[in-house]
Amino acid sequence: MPPPQSTASAMNMIAALLEQRSGQQIAANRAWRIETALKPILRERGLANLDELVAQLVAARSGELGDQVVDALLNQETSFFRDAAVLDAVGDAVQEMRHQVSDRRLRIWSAGCSTGQEPLSLAMLFAERGMGDGLCAPEIVATDLSPAALARARSGKFSQFEIQRGLPVRRMMTWFDSQGGDWVAKHDLVRRVQFRQHNLTADPAPPGKFDIILCRNVLLYFSPAMRRTVFDVLSSAIRPGGLLVLGAGETVIGQTEHFTPSERFRGFYRAAIPSLHTSRAAAAG
Ligand SMILES: C[S@@+](CC[C@H](N)C(=O)[O-])C[C@H]1O[C@@H](n2cnc3c(N)ncnc32)[C@H](O)[C@@H]1O
Repeated sequence: MPPPQSTASAMNMIAALLEQRSGQQIAANRAWRIETALKPILRERGLANLDELVAQLVAARSGELGDQVVDALLNQETSFFRDAAVLDAVGDAVQEMRHQVSDRRLRIWSAGCSTGQEPLSLAMLFAERGMGDGLCAPEIVATDLSPAALARARSGKFSQFEIQRGLPVRRMMTWFDSQGGDWVAKHDLVRRVQFRQHNLTADPAPPGKFDIILCRNVLLYFSPAMRRTVFDVLSSAIRPGGLLVLGAGETVIGQTEHFTPSERFRGFYRAAIPSLHTSRAAAAG
């Protein structure tokens, strides 16, 4: 006899756990993803369906199993030089900012960096444009909620398939070494990125102010209220006039007053600069 099918109530409980821990929502028409994504955990634990998994989650009060379930449900789709024109524009913006700021390193935050392809692409791009070392080299902080994704990012190890998605042979040969069937980023590349765990919906922003924040393809599955909260966090971390870069299907328009479309860099958003009046009032009060 086939095992009993998972009930809608088990799926709802798992979707609620995901939202509570990460802010990510799963639309009803994508609920099938839950079962598909959790199949390896069901198999590993010899569970027949999601109801049995929920029973274990309740018994364990979520705990480590909860972390594992959330991790498996996060959409970690990424690739090297994803939307290459956007990353090129980030390179242009950094070069332009460098002319204005010469006494310190610029700071870039890749928020929701998944397995590291985005910040590693930036590190390659900057080095190739002569901004790889010393004061010229932007500091790159890359964060994600998923410890598993971060562990992979730090290892710098990618499959042939992952490498081929977006990385031309010239870059692959310059920055990676072949190891078995995989490719491992050279120390000289991985050392350029600081990877840290960070939850955009629960943690304060990493310390210090950033000149550019990339938060691409992370906001899509947040509720409007959660998106607003995340924009507040991003705004608290960016320098006045700094640039925010979102994914192709994401916008700040109608969602926050902290950012407005950049006139100089199409598709980027500029952080509000407090007016003289506001900053005087803030200083006085
Ligand atoms: C689709 S990937 C995008 C990766 C990369 N930014 C890109 O565009 O290629 C979304 C990433 O956001 C992360 N994420 C989801 N919710 C998060 C949260 N609340 N805090 C931090 N990261 C989160 C996921 O773990 C995942 O790695």
